[in-house]
Amino acid sequence: MLVDTHCHLDFPQFDADRDEIIKEAHSRGVNRLINVGADLKSSIASCALAAKYEHIYAAVGVHPHDADSFTNETFEEIARLAKNAKVAAIGEIGLDYFRNLSAQENQERVFKQLIGLAKSLNKPIIVHSRNADNFTLEILKSLMPLKAVIHCFSGDDIFLQQCLDLGFYISFTCNITYLKAESLRLTAKAVPLDRLMLETDSPYLPPEGKRGRRNDPANVKTVALKLAELKDIELSELEKITTENAFNFFKLK
Ligand code: NI
Repeated sequence: MLVDTHCHLDFPQFDADRDEIIKEAHSRGVNRLINVGADLKSSIASCALAAKYEHIYAAVGVHPHDADSFTNETFEEIARLAKNAKVAAIGEIGLDYFRNLSAQENQERVFKQLIGLAKSLNKPIIVHSRNADNFTLEILKSLMPLKAVIHCFSGDDIFLQQCLDLGFYISFTCNITYLKAESLRLTAKAVPLDRLMLETDSPYLPPEGKRGRRNDPANVKTVALKLAELKDIELSELEKITTENAFNFFKLK
């Protein structure tokens, strides 16, 4: 049994075959999915998917890309959605200083506001951090204690150690299979098993050999295989531990 802790099945890339993709993943042992909101619209859609499928949970939040258009009304709507019992986390939230699609000051303001919401509801957060690790860390540190997972981890060993020291979880996507990802694989190898989680970030980041195509949650198995190889343990062991981590972290049933 596997958990894909981060996918976007509400995105239009799945409009033609969403139900089949969900069934296919389930038949391959991907028995829990967290569908993650990136803005208000996809947060609403995530909750709808969670209502339709017993094994799907939702995260609600606003991605740093959309921080410029975040208003008080957006916050109120996200806060209302977040009270739903199938909302397992607030996310994805964070900072993206790589694409800088929203002003950095707005990204920071929205990130802090949504962390505050997560804390008030006692829910974990799913953090997106790109080219902003020091800034991300500074905000997270200032708002401790926090239950956080760093999604699609792409940082260096120093950032990893700082996150581990704060008790955070680390989640990897199929990008650890990419030919040029040798240093990321070394970083992944250093993550203790009791802090590891798996995700696909579907429809993005398909595994090596399928690049340029749409990713889907069944490929979380590819992440598991690669991490088992890196950690030099049996696949079944890796699956068992990461599934337990996800169940505990997100309070899944
Ligand atoms: Ni994502």
